[in-house]
This record gives sequence, structure tokens and C-alpha cells, in this order.
Amino acid sequence: MASVSLNDIRKAYGAVDVIHGISLDIEDGEFVALVGPSGCGKSTLLRMIAGLEEITDGEIAIGGAVVNGMTPRERNIAMVFQSYALYPHMTVAENMGFNLKLAGVGKPQIEARVAEAARMLDLAQLLDRKPAQLSGGQRQRVAMGRAIVRNPAVFLFDEPLSNLDAKLRVQMRSEIKTLHQKVRTTSIYVTHDQIEAMTLADRIVVLNQGRVEQQGTPLELYRKPANLFVAAFIGSPAMNMLDGTVDGENGQPAARLSDGTAIRIASDRKVRPGQAVTVGLRPEHLTPDGKEGNVLAGQTLLVEPTGAQTHVVFDLAGQSVTAVVDGAYAARYGARFEANIASEQVHIFDRGTGLAL
Ligand SMILES: Nc1ncnc2c1ncn2[C@@H]1O[C@H](COP(=O)(O)OP(=O)(O)O)[C@@H](O)[C@H]1O
Ligand SMILES: [Mg+2]
Repeated sequence: MASVSLNDIRKAYGAVDVIHGISLDIEDGEFVALVGPSGCGKSTLLRMIAGLEEITDGEIAIGGAVVNGMTPRERNIAMVFQSYALYPHMTVAENMGFNLKLAGVGKPQIEARVAEAARMLDLAQLLDRKPAQLSGGQRQRVAMGRAIVRNPAVFLFDEPLSNLDAKLRVQMRSEIKTLHQKVRTTSIYVTHDQIEAMTLADRIVVLNQGRVEQQGTPLELYRKPANLFVAAFIGSPAMNMLDGTVDGENGQPAARLSDGTAIRIASDRKVRPGQAVTVGLRPEHLTPDGKEGNVLAGQTLLVEPTGAQTHVVFDLAGQSVTAVVDGAYAARYGARFEANIASEQVHIFDRGTGLAL
């Protein structure tokens, strides 16, 4: 196991800069998710850590040693990709042990390590099968087994679950987390899926166009997004964003919407009268028939039951706002919907800079 540190890492393809100077310190044993939209540079960054992509500038250290000049093999990392890339003519056991064989490890030791990994991944019954005789989830598990047997210092995952159907994705996600809790190998996990990042990681790094927008624990990012980008990216359903202008009475600031609705905001927010702001309301903080805080009301535009909860979309100052309410709540298309939100739950951003206030 090892720490990983990136010091002002840059990448350019020809004249095009895609990574603009990223610094990160990942602790030994930590599980870090790099999350961001497609094309933001996640895979490029991961491949530079792996040694599969040249670094334009900056320094990468693994376990305290600079690895810039090292081959991927010398870095002692294992990578799990979206495509499993198993050898079709080899059995599960042969696939899992192949890299060890190449490295000249003896047969008894290979067998022991494959057996140990198979036990951890629940593959013991499948060791003699060929990849074609496995389900997608089982193949992905073999790909992970192949990484584990090498006992690497660091695991790198690049969207490993993207090819699986929704149900299997959730199951494999749990398995990856359980595995990390057992082996505690430093892990860097790339995904565009914020739920995956939230559920798996000790720490999330949000990337956008080759830059870090914010990093923190899942709940820090959820509770205190530093800017509009992170606020919109983390949380599902996504945060509602409304245009407003700051005014207020008796020292309590408020954001006034285009129809005159005033949304009171916590008095410690650094706003000034007349400031153009974006008001952020999490759907799960809009509770119907509450007693406290701001009252927001409008016509119901859409009712989407999901079972335990129902998503109610209602009109507020000409914009569609989503509220997540209890599944037992009787929402009705066309009816008036009334929700409350406490001032402390209202997020407020400068509309020009996008920064949280
Ligand atoms: N070999 C390459 N040559 C030129 N541009 C590339 C190459 N690989 C990736 N890029 C560009 O770098 C950016 C980041 O790509 P990538 O790291 O694959 O993003 P992500 O994994 O976040 O979807 C994209 O704009 C992509 O088009
Ligand atoms: Mg990618």
C-alpha cells in the first residue's frame, strides 16, 4: 500500500491543454473518487498516474518516490477498466494468474494467490470456466481478481461499472466497497456518476475541464458546495437553481424571485443588497405542509412516484422546481403545491462568479 501525490500535473495534446495543473495528496489506504462530466480529463489523469500516458509537466509520487521516469510495471499499480479485456481462450484462473506468470512467479504461489482472490470475490466455483461462459458481472469480478492477485500498491479504476446494467452496477459497487474495507489498498476511482462517487469514496475530487472544482468528503460536497458547478453535479435529483436578487428586511437577507416571492436566507451569508444571485434549493429540503421557514407555492406540473418517495415538479416564478416528498403524500397534477424550506437550507451563489456566498 502507498500514498499517491500529484504536484501541479499538466497535460497537453499538441497545442491543446487538457489538464491545467492538478495537485492532490492521497493517503495510504484512502479511497478517492475523481468525478466529473465526460471529457473533463479523468481518464487522462488516471493514465498519467498509471504511467500509460506521458506527463507534460509536474511530478507524481507513489509511496513517497517520484515515479515520473518509471514504467507502469515498476509503479506497482493495478488498473481495472470499463472493458474487462479478458483473454477468451484462457480459464478464469489462467486469466487471473497471467500477469504473475509473466512476472516469473512460481506456480504454487500463483495458485495460492488466485485461490485467495477467488475466495474474496466469490469466484471459487468458476475458476475453470472461460470468459464466454460468464455473465458481465462475473467477468468484471475476474478483471478485479486479476488486479488483486498482483497485490499492488495502488488500485486505479476507470469507470469499471459502466458496461453493466443498473442492478448489477449497484451490486458490484457494494462489492468494490466491501473489498476495499477488507484489503485497504489505496484506490483511485474515476467515474462520471456522482452516486457512485458518493457511495464509494472517502473523498471526492470534482473535476471540470481539467481543473479541480472542489474536493472533500461526500457529505462536505453535498452540504457545502463551493460553487454552482459542484452544487449542480452532486445530489440527485439535482439542486433546483433559481435566479434572484438580494434584498431583505430587519437584517435578514432574502432573495427575491422574478414574481416577487422572497426566499429568506441565513443571515451569515455574505450577500449585499441588489446582488444578482442564484438560489439553490435541494429537492429533499422542500417539505410540503411544513411549519417553519419559507413558504413556496405553485401549480403542480408533474408527479413522479418512485415508491418510498415521490418527485413533485411545481411552478415557481415561471420555473420548474422539483420537490422530493414522502411516497404517501397525495400529490395531484394541476393542484396547488406548497412547500417549506428553512433559511439555513437555502444555498446562495453569486450569479456572476458562480461562487457560494
Ligand atoms: N490521445 C488524445 N489526443 C488528443 N486529445 C485527447 C486524447 N485523449 C484525450 N483527449 C482529450 O482530452 C480531454 C480529456 O479526455 P479524457 O481524459 O478521456 O476525459 P474523461 O475520461 O473525463 O471523459 C478530452 O477533451 C479529450 O478529447
Ligand atoms: Mg474517461
